[in-house]
Amino acid sequence: MPSTVVILGTGGTIAGTAKNAADNVGYTAAQRGIDELVAAVPQLGEAPLELEQVAQLDSKDMDYATWQRLAQRIELHLARPEVVGIVVTHGTDTMEETAWFLQRVLAPAKPVVLTGAMRPSTALQADGPQNLLDAVAVAREPGACGVVVAFGGLVHSAHDVRKVHTYRLDAFSSGDAGPIARIEEGRLRRHRLWPVGSALGLARINFDPGSWPRVEVISGHAASDGFIVDALVGAGVHGIVVAAPGNGSLHRALEPALRRAVTAGVPVWRCSRCAGGSLVGSFDDKLPAAPTASPWQARIDLMLSLLATPG
Ligand code: SIN
Repeated sequence: MPSTVVILGTGGTIAGTAKNAADNVGYTAAQRGIDELVAAVPQLGEAPLELEQVAQLDSKDMDYATWQRLAQRIELHLARPEVVGIVVTHGTDTMEETAWFLQRVLAPAKPVVLTGAMRPSTALQADGPQNLLDAVAVAREPGACGVVVAFGGLVHSAHDVRKVHTYRLDAFSSGDAGPIARIEEGRLRRHRLWPVGSALGLARINFDPGSWPRVEVISGHAASDGFIVDALVGAGVHGIVVAAPGNGSLHRALEPALRRAVTAGVPVWRCSRCAGGSLVGSFDDKLPAAPTASPWQARIDLMLSLLATPG
């Protein structure tokens, strides 16, 4: 019976340390290795685990080279018959971006479970150990697949997960879709299907990370105009995602600038800056929409689509 779970460490608050155990915010992320984090959870038991430190960073500093290496290591381990699933420890700040990137590139047939913590490993009541234990339970769940986030007792799909709180331990939400499952004492109570999709494949990202397309997110807001759009086009941006208010509406002074960008050969995708919901209705007369994507997911999708375009 295959039963190995590979745990890949990338840093984050889960691996962070503070000088004072009562300090949940004044800490340094990415200080402890994945072996130390696992050693702090003896409840992980005897079942086979393999540990690998892929990176050691605060996820605000996530970069394309790390994404590329992480995707490569995950694909390599998932191809091993004895491996049932992968856990990735990761900072919470950009966890949803890494989750979506991995789902789009790998759409794995085995579970890839991202987890982390809101409090450093030195906290009086650190949340990392329970999250790690839960994530391993998800990675071992028969039938599980796709990239998910296990956090605060919930399992979220890479598509729906958003970080919605700066401080609370239940910092992640799946919005209207709701979580895939709840983790209760190591057992999963599932509410909906595991994520599936078609993988773009590692070949799509097999380029020097320094040469990946530059796609920027801008926002629509009161008194928007074309200043930032024209500046980006002038500076050679390859794509623009506009996080527009409400149902994707565009300020009358912003829209012409975005159309100028399209005319200049820069693709522009529109999505909502709202934390919940998706764009509703028909948008034939407007700029292309990414109706269900967050601005940061849309940025990844546009970048990956541009990576498919030679030259
Ligand atoms: C990070 O994202 O690496 C730091 C913040 C966190 O993990 O909560």
